[in-house]
Amino acid sequence: TPVAAVIPAAGRGVRLGPGAPKALRALNGTPMLIHAVRALAASRHVSLVIVVAPPDGTAEVKSLLDAHALPERTDFLVVPGGESRQESVRLGLDALPPQYGIVLVHDAARPLVPVETVDAVVEAVRDGAPAVVPALPLADTVKEVEPAAVAGDPEPVVATPERARLRAVQTPQGFDRATLVRAHETVTENVTDDASMVEQLGLTVVAVPGHEEAFKVTRPLDLVLAEAVLARRRL
Ligand code: CTP
Ligand code: MG
Repeated sequence: TPVAAVIPAAGRGVRLGPGAPKALRALNGTPMLIHAVRALAASRHVSLVIVVAPPDGTAEVKSLLDAHALPERTDFLVVPGGESRQESVRLGLDALPPQYGIVLVHDAARPLVPVETVDAVVEAVRDGAPAVVPALPLADTVKEVEPAAVAGDPEPVVATPERARLRAVQTPQGFDRATLVRAHETVTENVTDDASMVEQLGLTVVAVPGHEEAFKVTRPLDLVLAEAVLARRRL
């Protein structure tokens, strides 16, 4: 079964601060999106990458893809994104040619995911799981609170889930195509990852080991870490 990757890259990056859309910001001189595209195209399984671009930035993204060296055996498509990550993923799925039976969804904001993580996700889908997430144990203890109406006000703690049973999930998340399409057609409320939509269909999502370097670039400190990781790889 051919494998395609959808890369939502249409976010503004509000938490990163003012500037270009997050996916177009440079890491050691190369746009974050190009790092992310290369990370997915590095997998021998992935034969198509669909980039979901900022709605007013599709031409810029196309020229970036043309300007950077990418594997010859991979095809690339660029489509405009939407208001939410969920909508952007759906717009990417709408552009997926019929022969692709397995779909990976990968945040452009996780530019440094190692190819071993991508391959592990694909292999778990090939082994029959309808939905697969890369996941890591947590370092911090997590508390559930009653969120304050005003940011910064004290918040009562409601519960402390057992840390050993919690995982932080990353991308790429991998799916049987029909399952992911049905999830996007069925679930209408806002979610923060694709796998949770599949959970809402009542199907079992499985977690495979994630990787520290698959962290999401969200806040300014994450840029410092990403550039240090790249320097360590000498990229
Ligand atoms: N994304 C998208 N379309 C949107 C919103 C987000 O394609 N309307 C993408 C982002 O480009 C990113 C991924 O979803 O690659 C994960 O989202 P996040 O890290 O939250 O990025 P942003 O939404 O851009 O950042 P922020 O929430 O700080 O504005
Ligand atoms: Mg966001």
